[in-house]
Amino acid sequence: MVRVELKQLNREFKDGTRIGPIDLSVEEGELVTLLGPSGSGKTTTLRMVAGFIPIEEGDLLFDGKSVKGLSPRERTIGMVFQSIALFPNMNVFQNIAFALEMAEKPRGEVIKRVEELANLLGIEKLLHRDIHEISGGEGQRVALARALARNPKLLLLDEPFSALDPQLRERLQYELRRIQQSLGITTIFVTHSQQEAFAISDRIAVLEDGVVVQVGTPNELYEHPVNDFVARFIGSGNVIEASVVETGESGSVLQFHGIVINTEKIVTSEKVLISIKPEDVEVSLQETENCMKGTLVSTTPQVGALRLMIEIANQQILSIVENGIMDSLDGRIGKEIFVSFKDKGVQILNQ
Ligand SMILES: Nc1ncnc2c1ncn2[C@@H]1O[C@H](COP(=O)(O)OP(=O)(O)O)[C@@H](O)[C@H]1O
Ligand SMILES: [Mg+2]
Repeated sequence: MVRVELKQLNREFKDGTRIGPIDLSVEEGELVTLLGPSGSGKTTTLRMVAGFIPIEEGDLLFDGKSVKGLSPRERTIGMVFQSIALFPNMNVFQNIAFALEMAEKPRGEVIKRVEELANLLGIEKLLHRDIHEISGGEGQRVALARALARNPKLLLLDEPFSALDPQLRERLQYELRRIQQSLGITTIFVTHSQQEAFAISDRIAVLEDGVVVQVGTPNELYEHPVNDFVARFIGSGNVIEASVVETGESGSVLQFHGIVINTEKIVTSEKVLISIKPEDVEVSLQETENCMKGTLVSTTPQVGALRLMIEIANQQILSIVENGIMDSLDGRIGKEIFVSFKDKGVQILNQ
């Protein structure tokens, strides 16, 4: 398997839209996801790696060697596109066999390989169906089998499951991860869904306006988002502005509407953006130490927990608490509630 390095990859479109510079390494056998909102440059980056968009600035290395002069075929990649791009005039077998036939592999080898892939993806019974006779989820399995046919060094997937319903999507995420790990194939996956990225990735690169703003494991991104964009996009953050009351050699003291927050970070500005995860926002019906008063706006039950929206000085703060507290909140909507932060849940964001 291959180690892939994107080095200062850049692309400027005629209208001035710029993607990059992108620096990213993907280790052998690793699954790295490019995660970002629509228009953040995920597809453009993937197509540069695949070779469908030429690399004009920067370089792309496979195992330390530049491949930017090579065609997609010479790069030995397998790719699955956002919209199904199966050949409608061929059946499932012929779709999967396509690249092998093009490479003029012997017939026996082609049949063996297609059957092997069909077993791996659980589509043995579909091999003789026409493309219009299979469902969307089956189509994406066929597309994946076709991408894997020639044992590519690198698998590239551009939002392969976004058109599927949530249950099927979760199932295919799980299957993709199982297959990717069993083959040990280096993979770059693209999605705009935080849930999907967290479900399948070894590491995630978050893209904003064509630039990688943070790379890390799902846990690193969740616990330590570097800025408010990542905190909001990952969904781990109430992003709020605190004032800096005191700064010394061992850290700073911050304040947010009466809540005092101690941090080891040395903050030199007067104000600072912080993120606090909903599960680190604690609530109480009585005033406690180091708390502030807010108004309970809504309560929404979810599996095993309760989401509380609380308004404090025109800002909405989300708290997630165990749903055992539910009865005590009956009839409290629109009334006061006291909020405190777990100090260790506070993350200071870069400005
Ligand atoms: N061929 C093109 N010409 C001009 N702009 C383009 C072209 N392809 C993509 N873009 C622009 O580049 C940006 C990133 O697009 P894309 O890589 O498709 O983002 P994503 O896949 O994250 O939605 C967008 O602003 C898009 O409009
Ligand atoms: Mg895209």
